[in-house]
Amino acid sequence: MRVSDIPALRGYWYPVAYGHEVDDQPLQARLFGSPYVVWRDRPGGPVRAAVDECPHRAARLSQGWVDQEALVCPYHGWRFDAQGRCVTIPALDPATPITSRARLACVSAAERYGLVWLLVGDEREPIPDLTELNLGYTLIHELKEYWTASAPRMIDNALDVSHVAFVHRGTVGDPDAARLSDFAVEREGHRLRFEVTYKSHVRGTQVTNVGLAGVVTRTTEAELVQPFVFRGALVYETGLRHVLFKTCTPVDDETTLFFQFIGRNDDPPEEKWPDIIAVDRAVQAEDRLILEAIDADFPLDITSEVHTRADRMTVEYRRILAELAALGPPAPPPPPPPTPPPPGGARLPA
Ligand code: FES
Ligand SMILES: [Fe+2]
Repeated sequence: MRVSDIPALRGYWYPVAYGHEVDDQPLQARLFGSPYVVWRDRPGGPVRAAVDECPHRAARLSQGWVDQEALVCPYHGWRFDAQGRCVTIPALDPATPITSRARLACVSAAERYGLVWLLVGDEREPIPDLTELNLGYTLIHELKEYWTASAPRMIDNALDVSHVAFVHRGTVGDPDAARLSDFAVEREGHRLRFEVTYKSHVRGTQVTNVGLAGVVTRTTEAELVQPFVFRGALVYETGLRHVLFKTCTPVDDETTLFFQFIGRNDDPPEEKWPDIIAVDRAVQAEDRLILEAIDADFPLDITSEVHTRADRMTVEYRRILAELAALGPPAPPPPPPPTPPPPGGARLPA
C-alpha cells in the first residue's frame, strides 16, 4: 500500500512547520504530493493555507509575498485576502468587478504544540491531544527532518520495540538483552496501546540525562494516537518519564516530514536540553539508516510477511491501515437541488 492509496489518511491534521518559521514570507508545504502555501497575513496573526496554485495562470503563491495583509501573486500581482478572495487585479481599472472564481483553494490551518498543522481532506479527527503536554510536562522540540521513507514504515518502526536491542546497539540498545517481557496490545478504535519492559543500556551523555548508568530496566508505554502520530513514554526506575512524540507528515508516497518532540516530567534546565536532544537524535539516525533502505510500499496483507508474538502491535497496525483503506474515497457531496422551472413553464428554443 502507498499512502496515496488510502484517501481516509487525508482526513487527519499534519504538522508542516514550526510556528516561528511561518511569517509574512509565504512558504511551501507538500502533503500527499501536492503543494500548499502557508503564510500569516500579519505578525502574530493566525496561519493561513491554500493550494499553492494561483487561479489565474497557476503561479506558485509561495514565491509571492504579503503586503498590507494581502497575499500577492508573484506573476501578475493579483492580491488575495485571508479568505482567499482576489481583491485586486492590478492590470484592470479598480472599478472593474472581480469574478468570484478568482479565489484560492483554502485549506484548514492551525497551531498547536509550537507546530503549524494543515488539514487537506475531510476531517476524521481533530489535531491529536497529546496528554503529557496538556499536563504541564516540559516540551522540547528535538528534530524536523525529511526522510526518504514512507510514513507507515516510520510509525511501524516506532511501534516495534524488538528492534531497539539491535538497531540501537550503538546508543540505548543491548543485543545481549533482547528478550522482551510479555505484553498485551490494547485496541480502541484506531488507537493502539501496549506496555513493555526491557533492558536498556545507559551510557555516555545519557547517564546525566536520565540519572542512571549501565543496564537498567526501562518500560515503554507506547501508543498509536493517530495513523501517523506516535506517543511513547519511556519510564525509568527513578520515576523519570521521557515522553517521545513522533509525527510523520506524508509529503508524498516515498517522503515523510518527521517531527520529534518530547515531554519531560523532571523539568530539565535548558542547559541540559542539547544533551537530551543529542541522544534522541543519535537514536533516530540509527532508525533512519534502516528505514530509508526499505521499500516505501507497506504491506497490508498480513500473510505476506512473517510475524511473531513480539510483533503483535505492528500486526495490529497493519489491520488498522487495512480498515482505513477499505473505507475508500469519501462520499461525494450531495447534488445541488434542481433549479425550479421559470414561471410559465420551460420554453424550448425555436
Ligand atoms: S498567475 Fe497569479 S496573478 Fe497571474
Ligand atoms: Fe528505533
